[in-house]
Order: sequence, then structure tokens, then C-alpha cells
Amino acid sequence: MNTIGILTSGGDCPGMNAAIRAAVFAAAARGMRIYGIQCGYQGLYDADWEELTPEKVDDIHQRGGTVLRTARFLPFSDAARRKGAIRQCIRNCRKNRDAAGNPNPIEGLVVVGGDGSFRGAFDLTKKNLPCVCLPGTIDNDIACTDETIGYDTCLNAVCAMVDAIADTARSHDRCIIVEVMGNMAGDLTLYAGMAAGAVTVVPEEGYDLPEQGEMSAEEVARFDGGIAQAIAAAKAAGRRSFVVLVAEGFTGKKDKNGRTRYPGGMEALAKRIQQLTGVETRADVLGYVQRGGKPSARDRILAAQMGARAVRLLAENQSNRVVILRGGAVSDLGITRALHMPKKLSAEDIALAKSLRYDSV
Ligand code: F6P
Repeated sequence: MNTIGILTSGGDCPGMNAAIRAAVFAAAARGMRIYGIQCGYQGLYDADWEELTPEKVDDIHQRGGTVLRTARFLPFSDAARRKGAIRQCIRNCRKNRDAAGNPNPIEGLVVVGGDGSFRGAFDLTKKNLPCVCLPGTIDNDIACTDETIGYDTCLNAVCAMVDAIADTARSHDRCIIVEVMGNMAGDLTLYAGMAAGAVTVVPEEGYDLPEQGEMSAEEVARFDGGIAQAIAAAKAAGRRSFVVLVAEGFTGKKDKNGRTRYPGGMEALAKRIQQLTGVETRADVLGYVQRGGKPSARDRILAAQMGARAVRLLAENQSNRVVILRGGAVSDLGITRALHMPKKLSAEDIALAKSLRYDSV
């Protein structure tokens, strides 16, 4: 393989730039050409790319986000449009020419993104465009890897914000309920809560959550009751302020009719907790500040290891692989297996987070 492409897809995350840089350096070291594709699969579809060199990417690794920009490419998730879109992407890669106008087909692709992006890569590989994927998302919701690129930076950012929120909650004897990103995965909520000593509520605690529409009245009562009980116990133990982290799958994600699973979302939840506990309660949605910012050293290093490995795999004509971190070592796994692994959150750690709270002693 002489020429490859790299794209970032789905939600951006800190560390994507370090992965791009590492892939470009690895390609250059092997005498391969590498093209940076703009806006994820949209750029593949529009043939919107430029050749990258080590000089062009030398300073990007400290920056958050992705210099290649990113997008969620709808035709890949629409059964009626997928086939045609894939065909067009493949055609564009085959027709690529270098700056001098000579034929220079893109023969393989590095895809940095979440599991939705892996599905696009799987389809492209089937049509003879070999792909290797890197897990890049703040959510840490990819089962096959212990950690995704971007998670460490985001976790530290959330922990720092929760520490700051605890300062103001303490000053006012308030409860502040904080919505944390992560889609349907509770990793950010649980581990930021554990690190900051906050109460946490995550979908993995066994809530029966509908795909569409609102939670049942019983689930809402269980949800409210769990938080109210934690606050009551902490209050009885002498605590006057409380911080509760709630995974966004409950209060932030809206269905096509604009409904959140927890009826009325964060504002309704805060009101309800105030009624149940008698503690003045505020709602706070951390939002996109969680996703931006300079990547941590750990994310840069993980991204560099993964980016270099992806290029090596393509150079060795291996494709349909996801680069993963397992037990501290970077390795790789077939996409099909990666996509079928169920995502779990450690039950032990859920229990540990509870045991570390003031209300538990
Ligand atoms: O995948 C990362 C993530 O930030 C999730 O935590 C969140 O649910 C989602 O992206 C938000 O997506 P968007 O940028 O489309 O609002």
C-alpha cells in the first residue's frame, strides 16, 4: 500500500490531532503518502482532502478538537442511501491524483471515531477499501478497548468542574445536580463522581430505559428515590451540601418528539429532588465544554501509539481492524468482533463509588 487517507468522524475528542500527527509521521517513515480527509465520511464522499506531511501536522498534537473537522454522515446510517454513498466514496478514492496530476489512488483508510464510524469502515472494507479504526470518543463507550482516545482528558475536565461546583454548593448549603455527557455510557459520570466524591446515577445500575419516550413512573420513582435517599443519609450524617452527577442518557438525550427519558429533563429533576429532600436544589448541564480543550499527556500518548499502529497494519495489508488498549498494551482486533462486544461498567466500581460517599459511612 503506497497511499492512505485518514479521517475523524462522529463527535470530536481531545487526542484526535495527536492520532493524525502520529499517523502522518508513521506513513512518512514508511515512504507512504497520506491524505487528510475533511469532515469525516462527508469529505470522502465529496473528495475533499489534501496530502499531509510531517511539517503540516507538527504542531497539532497539543490542540483539542480535530484539524480535519468531523461530522456525522447521515447517508451511512440510512439504508436507502448507504450503498450509493459507499460506491461514491470508493470511486473518489480510486480516482485520486497527486499534485502533479498523476494517478495516486487512496488504497486504505484510518478512521478515528466511535462505533458508528466503525460501521462505515466495515462497509468500505467489504467494498475493497481496507480500513483500520481507532477508538476516539470522550464517552469511553467502546467495549473492545479499556480506554478510548479523549476519555482521560474529558474525565479530568469533568472532575475539575465538579470540584468547582462543590465549592459553590458548599457555600450555599445547596444540592447541585449535574448532567454529564457520555450518551448511554456511565463511565464519565461514575468515575468523575468517584474521583470527586459525588453521588452518581448511571444507566448501568440496571434502569430499564426506553429507546424512545419517557421512563415509566416506577423507574422515575426509583430514580428520584435513590437520589433523595443518598441526600437524606448524608444530611443525617451532618452534611449540608450535595453534588449529584447524572448521566445524560437520562436527562439530556431527546427522542424524535423532543422528550427526555426523565420527564422534563434536568430542571424537572432538580425541582423534584428539592421537594423530596427540602434542600435547595439547582440543575447544571456541563455541555460541550467537556468535549474540548487540550488533550492530556495520557491521551496524546495513547493516540500516538494507536495512530502509528494503524498505519503499520495498513502497510502490512491488514484491514478491518480496530486498534485497542487491553491490560495496558496497545493491540488490535477484528471490527466484527469489536462491534459485537457488549459494553459493561464494572459493578464493583459502581459499588466502590457508593462506598466512598459521605452518606455511606
Ligand atoms: O459522542 C460524544 C458526545 O459528546 C456524547 O457524549 C453526546 O451524547 C454527543 O456526543 C453529543 O453529540 P452532538 O455533538 O451531536 O450534540
